Amino acid sequence: MKLLVTGGAGYIGSHTCVALLEAGHDVTVIDNLCNSSAIALQRVQEITGRSLRFVEGDIRNPEHLADAFEGGVDAVIHFAALKAVGKSCEQPLAYFDNNIGGTIALMQAMEQAGVSRLVFSSSATVYGQPEKVPVREDAPLNATNPYGRTKLVMEQLIQDWCASRPETAAVLLRYFNPVGAHPSGLIGEDPRGEPDNLMPYVAQVAVGRRERLRIYGDDYPTPDGTGVRDYLHVMDLARAHRKAVDYAAAHPGCEAFNLGTGRGYSVLELVQAFEQASGKPIPYEISTRRAGDVAELTAEPALANAKLRWVATHDIHAMCADAWNWQSKNPNGYSRDMSFNTYSR
Ligand code: NAD
Ligand code: UD1
Repeated sequence: MKLLVTGGAGYIGSHTCVALLEAGHDVTVIDNLCNSSAIALQRVQEITGRSLRFVEGDIRNPEHLADAFEGGVDAVIHFAALKAVGKSCEQPLAYFDNNIGGTIALMQAMEQAGVSRLVFSSSATVYGQPEKVPVREDAPLNATNPYGRTKLVMEQLIQDWCASRPETAAVLLRYFNPVGAHPSGLIGEDPRGEPDNLMPYVAQVAVGRRERLRIYGDDYPTPDGTGVRDYLHVMDLARAHRKAVDYAAAHPGCEAFNLGTGRGYSVLELVQAFEQASGKPIPYEISTRRAGDVAELTAEPALANAKLRWVATHDIHAMCADAWNWQSKNPNGYSRDMSFNTYSR
């Protein structure tokens, strides 16, 4: 298939491009590089031995989108979004404009180009503070911050759009906590500034970029008092997108799927697994709870297991080993001063 991947230079997008190219699909990426580096795309090509087409552009710009759709597209995988919860509270309008505005522009371009299949990056954040875990797809939805609200609104807009066009197929993928990296260590997660999320923070402590981890609370009602999450290897997540594209080709309508392992790990368990994988001590201090955090959030992945025929296969040790492999080989992440065309290793 000819696939258009928005946000394909980003963390999850670049890993998914590897899975798509390896499956024989033709890939065009549109990305404005606002949170990524074109080097990731060079490395995707290096890993797969295949080339992709890169349109450096913004999905809110109809001309950039027209360029991306040129040559025909069978389905779109839509990653492009801003994703920092804290920043979304400071700059909600920027988040509404980029995430919601970008998604509307994309659906308009899809209609114009006659493209009717969409795979959308949603998030466990749409469950807000869930009443019970593991969470099923039919649990009540509720956003607790502007970023989460954009995901919820985008899900609803896509549903409405699908309902108006019977031939349209949309798959809403609700990711739990993606971590890890491609086993080559050539691509991985490279947050700008201080990481918000646990795994990249731990990896930067291990490599010596940060002094110590702050653990946000050890008084939760969990076995060791620290927060429990459903961590998921990014290559398992990448493979789920391949399955979702195939599913969309055969199933018109709009469906949501949880993507997680179904197994939770506490912060302390993850730290311990990372220490084992890296052989590095992870100094930490216990600090106060982070506003908005829940004690425990895990997925019920049965629907994706059954309908997408997808199961997560990597365990926490593989997640930590691959995250460390990436971080130790690229202590400062991608350097961002090279363009797609000029990069060479
Ligand atoms: P990322 O920031 O690494 O990737 C997003 C990419 O989109 C970046 O390359 C960025 O440059 C690009 N982008 C943003 N706005 C754009 C625009 N207007 N036009 C063109 N490109 C644009 O983030 P990620 O972790 O790879 O996340 C991918 C998707 O998955 C996002 O939609 C995110 O909300 C969602 N998600 C991520 C997580 C996570 O923990 N990483 C969890 C749940 C959902
Ligand atoms: C994050 C996102 C959320 C998204 C989810 C799934 C934030 C604030 N929330 O939440 O929108 O839906 O990922 O991708 O980014 N922790 C520490 N110290 C740290 C960082 C985290 O102790 O420096 C703890 C947290 O309190 C939590 C666990 O580690 O218990 C995981 O945190 P994080 O990686 O930020 O993921 P989520 O909280 O699930």
